[in-house]
Amino acid sequence: AQTVRLTVQPPTDPTLRISKHIYGHFAEHLGRCVYDGFWVDQGLNVPKQGRIRMDIVEALRNIKVANLRWPGGCYADAYHWRDGVGPTAQRPQTINTWWGDAVEDNSFGTHEFLELCKLIGAEPYLAANVGSGTVQEMANWMEYLNSNADTPLTRQRGQNGHPEPYGVMMWGIGNESWGCGGNMTVDYYTDVYKRYATFAHNYPGSPKLKRIVSGANGDDANWTETCMRNIPLDQMWGLTLHQYTLPTGNWTGSKGKATGFNEQEYFSTMKNCLKMEAVVTKHAAIMDQYDKDKKVALLVDEWGVWTDVEPGTNPGFLYQQNSLRDALVAGTTLNIFNNHCDRVRGANLAQAVNVLQALVLTDKERMLLTPTYHVFDLYQVHQDAQFVPLQFTSPEYVLNGQKLPALNASASKDANGAVHISLVNLDTKKPLQLAAALPGVNWKTVSGRILTSANVNDYNTFDNPNKVKLADFKDAKKRGANLAVELPPQSVLVLALK
Ligand code: AHR
Repeated sequence: AQTVRLTVQPPTDPTLRISKHIYGHFAEHLGRCVYDGFWVDQGLNVPKQGRIRMDIVEALRNIKVANLRWPGGCYADAYHWRDGVGPTAQRPQTINTWWGDAVEDNSFGTHEFLELCKLIGAEPYLAANVGSGTVQEMANWMEYLNSNADTPLTRQRGQNGHPEPYGVMMWGIGNESWGCGGNMTVDYYTDVYKRYATFAHNYPGSPKLKRIVSGANGDDANWTETCMRNIPLDQMWGLTLHQYTLPTGNWTGSKGKATGFNEQEYFSTMKNCLKMEAVVTKHAAIMDQYDKDKKVALLVDEWGVWTDVEPGTNPGFLYQQNSLRDALVAGTTLNIFNNHCDRVRGANLAQAVNVLQALVLTDKERMLLTPTYHVFDLYQVHQDAQFVPLQFTSPEYVLNGQKLPALNASASKDANGAVHISLVNLDTKKPLQLAAALPGVNWKTVSGRILTSANVNDYNTFDNPNKVKLADFKDAKKRGANLAVELPPQSVLVLALK
């Protein structure tokens, strides 16, 4: 095993927190995420509240999902909120032209989504339709949800079962406006944004809106630069960024398999995943030029592994399996976000159920938790905790002459003074011997939980749902004031020092 010297450093800014909103998720009307995912037929024999599937709700409650983004994605710019309120039988059937031309009965609309968020304990994050909607339509949606005045819209909200305002704060103004949201140039979009933001009204008694700019595709610096230059800082709470991890790195042709991949394919996936560090650094540096006080949040509101769909499934439904590799991507990406928490104050994994890098997969009554879910379970300790910097030099993970840093990590201190360190070893063969110094940390005991498995392409199935699961970790020891850890290959470990 290679030895790594790691130092837990005193915080340079004791007020810096890892925002819980880094631990946000995404529910689009896409494939089986909403319909036959969160929202099931009355006849399905699972615990339900109305048609909301409660075993999924319970799983998501347990990992403290901070916010849930809805209704898209690309679908948001085709969605008209009025189609999804009022008596279900009177709601129109529409076509989901973005995702498989599925017929949408609109039985899951605004009230159902907000009920789902309440059950999960997640803050709702709505995406307003900029691509095919109007400013008036968005403004009406906000009045419908947030006003306490007596108006036809708020009366309608009461008739639909919710007399009290909902007070929805997080609002995305469009989605991927450079692509499926309208194929706009950034100069055009920033004008459109300002028009929408002007009519996104703060209603008396309702919490202040967090207006969020539809941001860049990957490392598109010009998009971020133009948004920061053209939009006054007080008109935006946040700016987004979408960055996916494709095993092959190619949007055209095969993106790579979700299971049954070889080590070279695993290596290339991790190489692509690690690009998040450079992408976030680049956008954050541009934002710093226009906003040195870091008032505007950077939200990576779509991220995750995107592979080819499972053979035999609808290509428009984006259903893919989820292996230990996905968990290593999740652990690594969340470490990157934690370490950039001065600017990255929100993120949404795509997507929560049955789509892309899902937390939960379902098959009729059956449900399984993916390896990615377990990483969010481990990392929930970082939510709103004080950021603790780490210093180390990573050993290399070498494959066929190519190299990657084997180790990535982040740390935080919670309200009770416990320090949590999350460690990821990407090397498939070599364990790492960590010798950690913790000056300034007052601790007596160490405990941990680990996620690993025999192969990086191991995954959970409906017949064997616990092949990849969490286990207690015993190989961390106190040695005087120092900490000694033997970190196994291909593992995600979170330690608690108390
Ligand atoms: O998450 C799937 C799709 O990916 C989203 O709808 C879109 O915003 C992105 O291109």
